[in-house]
Amino acid sequence: MPKNSITVIDNRTGKQYEFPIEEGGVVRATHFREIKTDPGDFGLMTYDPAFTNTASCRSKITFIDGDQGILRYRGYPIEELAEKSNYLETAYLIVKGELPDVKHYEAWERNIKTHTMVHENIKKFMEGFRYDAHPMGMLCGTIGALSTFYPDAKNIFDLESRRLQTRRLIGKLPTLAAAAYRLSRGLPYVYPDNDLSFTGNFLSMLFKMTELKYKPDPVLERALDVLFILHADHEQNCSTNAMRSVGSSQVDPYSATAAAIAALYGPLHGGANEQVIRMLMEIGSVKNVPEMIKKVKSGERLLMGFGHRVYKNYDPRAKIVKRTAYEVFEVTGKNPLIDIALELERIALEDDYFVSRKLYPNVDFYSGIIYQAMGFPMTMFPVLFAIPRTSGWMAQWAEMVRDPEQKIARPRQVYIGEKLRHYTPIETRPEPKMREDAVSDSI
Ligand code: CMC
Repeated sequence: MPKNSITVIDNRTGKQYEFPIEEGGVVRATHFREIKTDPGDFGLMTYDPAFTNTASCRSKITFIDGDQGILRYRGYPIEELAEKSNYLETAYLIVKGELPDVKHYEAWERNIKTHTMVHENIKKFMEGFRYDAHPMGMLCGTIGALSTFYPDAKNIFDLESRRLQTRRLIGKLPTLAAAAYRLSRGLPYVYPDNDLSFTGNFLSMLFKMTELKYKPDPVLERALDVLFILHADHEQNCSTNAMRSVGSSQVDPYSATAAAIAALYGPLHGGANEQVIRMLMEIGSVKNVPEMIKKVKSGERLLMGFGHRVYKNYDPRAKIVKRTAYEVFEVTGKNPLIDIALELERIALEDDYFVSRKLYPNVDFYSGIIYQAMGFPMTMFPVLFAIPRTSGWMAQWAEMVRDPEQKIARPRQVYIGEKLRHYTPIETRPEPKMREDAVSDSI
């Protein structure tokens, strides 16, 4: 039986160290601090920009095997949840760890729906945004502002408070997202209709016009719900890391969620679905696909919606999204961009540049095509990602708050700046030299 440990020899001193290997092949980075040349030495540090090989927590929520293309929430395969569950039930699973029975599901649904309304002052707050404000910017600012409406959220170590903020956030996200959309269109707000499903109500708040009751198309309602299931959590991605990192300062969860939304907004993360559509529109036609592939291979462009830090195989979510696209087209008519996307995928999956780097379509490659077919403007795409991800963020945040090993997140750095130098009077200084690392070379 091999010993579950690693032996490290420091060639500077010849000393030998033995460190335990914990579950999943993990060595604690703090052990390296024991490796010193003399007692006053700081010890060794690990250097890992972008955390490509560093676990920041132990988590029971989401499992990904990137090589096999496997994604599971609390042990349940994403394919089964997408086929059989609905978003609210999946959110329960993610937040509470188990699937609910009928009684618990009904109570959960009631509790979430109790919190779909927002304070009237929030509407006034949102009216302060410029007429062309990006809805994701509005969402980020407004969620941050919610912390001022719920000062009780500061009680982060109180279980009841955490439960309440979780229901409030999951319940209010669709309302705020829809308000941002209506505002950008100059349309009046639509109040929540709690007779409808979570997703049906969201569609009503977005698209209801003069009819007395909005009736969502069942195919589109289900398609959006499936997309919500697929986006609900994805372990330690950029925005979840922001949620945990900001939350580790013990700030309230609204402020931490605003930070997570800001992280999600970026084009390399949740903003990628918007960028995919812009790229497909720029390509314009199937015949122009090879030209774009050429630009990508020369390093001039990124193929948006391709590649993933963890998946080195087809993203299992992308497979489901691609299938869902055709169900949506039955109702909306085909989005012509799908042909360009399919051709891009076909060429990329045969090309050595993509094959050797294990670059496959990710969840964002086809989702924007569905959203566009359903009538969403591109600027709403990242907002549609944020709505379901809220359940994942809150589950990850609560796990972090309860984890006795967690402390305020604070990475080390490797200082590579100037050595000590002394201040001289301004009149006697030489003209400053232009530095490569200056923020800007203009004054
Ligand atoms: N197009 C062209 N080349 C790429 C791409 C791409 N989309 N993604 C990675 N590469 C190349 C990259 O240039 C590098 O090449 P080389 O080894 O020659 O330097 C190699 O593949 C490895 O990539 P990396 O930059 O080390 O990968 P990463 O893990 O740091 O980045 C990523 C992951 C998702 C940020 C990146 O693949 C990317 O920018 N993709 C496009 C944006 C996108 O679709 N984002 C959505 C991610 S999925 C939804 C979510 O969770 O947000």
